[in-house]
Amino acid sequence: MNPDSTGNRARPLTDPVSLYRLREGVYAADLLIVAIVELDLFTWIGRRAEVRAADIEKELRLDSRALDVLITYLVALGLLERAPNETLRLSPLAAEHLVADSSWDMRAYFGSLSERPGCAEMMTALRSGKTSSWSSATEDSRDWSDRLIDPGWARHVVASMDSRGLFLGAEFAAALDELPDIRRSLDIGGDSGVYSCALVDRRPEVRASVLERSPVDELGRELLVRRGYADRVNVITGDMFNGPLPGGFDLHIYSHVLHDWSEAQVRDLLDASYAALEPGGWIVDHDAHINADKTGPLPVAEYSVMMMHGTHGKCWSVSELEPMLTDSGFVDVRHKDTISDRSVVIARKPAA
Ligand SMILES: C[S@@+](CC[C@H](N)C(=O)[O-])C[C@H]1O[C@@H](n2cnc3c(N)ncnc32)[C@H](O)[C@@H]1O
Repeated sequence: MNPDSTGNRARPLTDPVSLYRLREGVYAADLLIVAIVELDLFTWIGRRAEVRAADIEKELRLDSRALDVLITYLVALGLLERAPNETLRLSPLAAEHLVADSSWDMRAYFGSLSERPGCAEMMTALRSGKTSSWSSATEDSRDWSDRLIDPGWARHVVASMDSRGLFLGAEFAAALDELPDIRRSLDIGGDSGVYSCALVDRRPEVRASVLERSPVDELGRELLVRRGYADRVNVITGDMFNGPLPGGFDLHIYSHVLHDWSEAQVRDLLDASYAALEPGGWIVDHDAHINADKTGPLPVAEYSVMMMHGTHGKCWSVSELEPMLTDSGFVDVRHKDTISDRSVVIARKPAA
């Protein structure tokens, strides 16, 4: 908050990227342990002449979303390599240290960690595609999104999302400078409204709205009043999956929202946005995105493991989002890096 006269916010003296990476990568090592120990995946791949993801899925009976996240993570770690014709091969590091019959086989070293509770949850995700309760909570096994109807949990989540956005918000807003003539923005699943506040700081002519379900909507309103934004950012109570999105907006923002949902659900959201946006309007996905050839970056591949474990989604790659956007009717898809492993994917609804 506290923008200067040009709409730029005060910046911290230190770069918290390492803290984001620690928090977002917290589940990844458990998936690696499972791949090495339970699946013995590197030995399995090393013994075959040619392997594709579909072969692994079929023969090891794994869920396709979880396997996709696993493969991207192992490629980003430098343990697998993507080869021509969508085949996968071991990297020299994996071939020397993570396979049976090697003089330098380290699998047993990982094996001594395989009783970690997170490893059992990863194995369930890989076998069944089933998500675990957020943060591996044992007292409430509801899906994180279903749990949001509980006001105590909602307050916890709003505080968490808001604290993440305090640093990311200014760069997010700056990345939209190239979009001309925005008048009204809708931040779908906008939580505390932290990104909408950053947008109106930078572009005082914009009137912003946040779409949220109850009780997150009320928590967002409280915060906007406390921060002095209630005259420029309002909260609309609504369910993004239920009924048409509200009309009259020329910018739709999805920030860290699409990574929670399956491809079919993301496609539903993009279709709903296309139908509701003004002609010529823009859609922006602000998130941690996997690169187009799905080889990294490693911090995003690690974050994707957390999303796979606790939600229906994953960190989408730029090359996965583009066809989803164009299938919904959007054009001019572009991608721009911001900070802390985040980027924006922007597309436009053609003018009438
Ligand atoms: C991971 S948080 C992201 C919050 C914020 N956009 C950010 O970037 O930090 C997902 C948000 O989606 C909201 N959400 C989940 N399901 C929703 C629904 N059906 N309709 C509207 N919002 C929803 C949640 O309340 C939560 O605020």
